[in-house]
Amino acid sequence: MDLVMRFMYGGVVSVLLMVSSIQLRCVNGKSNNKVPCFFIFGDSLVDSGNNNNLQTVAKVNYKPYGIDFPPGPTGRFTNGRTAVDFLARMLGIHDYIQPFSTADDHQVLDGVNYASGSSGILDITGQQTGDHVSLNQQLQNHKSVISRIIKVIGNKRKAEHRLRKCLYSVGMGSNDYINNYFVPSYYNSSKLYGPRQFADALIKQYALQLKTLYNYGARKIVVNGIGEIGCVPFVRSVSGDPSKCVKSMNDAAKLFNKRVVWLTRQLQKNFSDVKFLYIDNASPFLTFPGFVEDVSCCKVNSFGLCDPKEPMCTSRNTHRFWDGFHPTEIVHKRAAWITFANAIAAKLI
Ligand SMILES: *[C@@H]1O[C@H](CO)[C@@H](O)[C@H](O)[C@H]1NC(C)=O
Ligand SMILES: *[C@@H]1O[C@H](CO)[C@@H](O)[C@H](O)[C@H]1NC(C)=O
Repeated sequence: MDLVMRFMYGGVVSVLLMVSSIQLRCVNGKSNNKVPCFFIFGDSLVDSGNNNNLQTVAKVNYKPYGIDFPPGPTGRFTNGRTAVDFLARMLGIHDYIQPFSTADDHQVLDGVNYASGSSGILDITGQQTGDHVSLNQQLQNHKSVISRIIKVIGNKRKAEHRLRKCLYSVGMGSNDYINNYFVPSYYNSSKLYGPRQFADALIKQYALQLKTLYNYGARKIVVNGIGEIGCVPFVRSVSGDPSKCVKSMNDAAKLFNKRVVWLTRQLQKNFSDVKFLYIDNASPFLTFPGFVEDVSCCKVNSFGLCDPKEPMCTSRNTHRFWDGFHPTEIVHKRAAWITFANAIAAKLI
C-alpha cells in the first residue's frame, strides 16, 4: 500500500511541477488567458456569495469565514479562496469570477459563479435548510446571462463563438445525499429508493442538465465527482463514532461517482464537438498527505457551520476541514491543481 501511495503521489508531484512551470511562463505575458471565460455551477463547495441574501441557514457571510481572504467574509464556505478562485487565476482570468447575485453586465463577460450552498441535482434537495438555487435554476440563470452577454457584445454569433471557448465547471450531488437521501426525517427518497436506484434517478436528471448546458453552447465541461461525504467531521460526529467514516454514505457516493464517469463517457460519445472531463474528488492527494487534523478547524454550531463566538484553530494548513462540512483553503488549492493539470492533459485548455 505504501509503495502504491508513493507512486501515486510521485505522479501527482510531477504533474504539479509541470503546472507550475506553465504558470511561470504565463506570468510575464500579456494576454495569456487560456479561456475567455469561466462558468461555475455547484453547491457550497464553490458558492461565492449567492446565498447571502436568501432566507436560509446555509449562508456564511460572517467571521471567521474568509479569515484568510483579504476582503473578509464573502459567503465562501471556507477560510480563504475556493478551488474555482484558484482555477480562475490559473486560467489567466485576473479577477474573481463574480457570483450571479451581484455580477454586472461587464463582469459577466469573464464568466459567472451560479453555485449555491445546500443545492442539488434535485430541486427539492436542501429544502429543509431554506432557500437555495438548485441546478435547474442555475441553468435558467445561465440562460439569462447568455442574453446579457449577447446584448453587451452586440452580436449574437460573436457571443456564441465566445461561449463555445469558455470553461464550464459543474459539481453537484453531495447535497442530494447529505441534504436529502440521508435525512429520512424530512425526505422520503430513502424509503422510495435503494442506493442504486437513487443514484440512477440522480444520473437521469443530471444527464438532462448536462445536455441543457451543452445546448446553451458549452463545449468544455469539467464534471466533478463528489468527495467522501461519510468522512466529513459533522457527519462523523453525529454518527456515534467520530473516529470512523460512515461507510454507507461513502458507498453511496461511490455508486454515484461511477455513474457520473459512465455518463460523461456517454455524452462524450454522443456529442463529438464537446470535451467532457471527469474529476475525481475522492483522490488521496486531497484527503491524506500533510493533514494531521481530521477535525474541523472552527467550532461548529448545530448546522455544522462555524460558530462566530467560538475560537478556531491556528494551524489552518494542517487541517483538512474548515468547518463541519467544508475543506480548508489548502485543500481547495490542491483540488484546483488537479483540475488544471487534468484539463491541460485532456486538451480542454
Ligand atoms: C413523500 O412521498 C409522498 C408520496 O409519494 C409525496 O406525495 C410527498 O410529496 C413526498 N414528500 C416529500 C417531502 O418528498
Ligand atoms: C447516447 O445516444 C444513445 C443512442 O442514440 C442513446 O440511447 C443514449 O441514451 C445517449 N446517452 C445519453 C447519456 O444521452
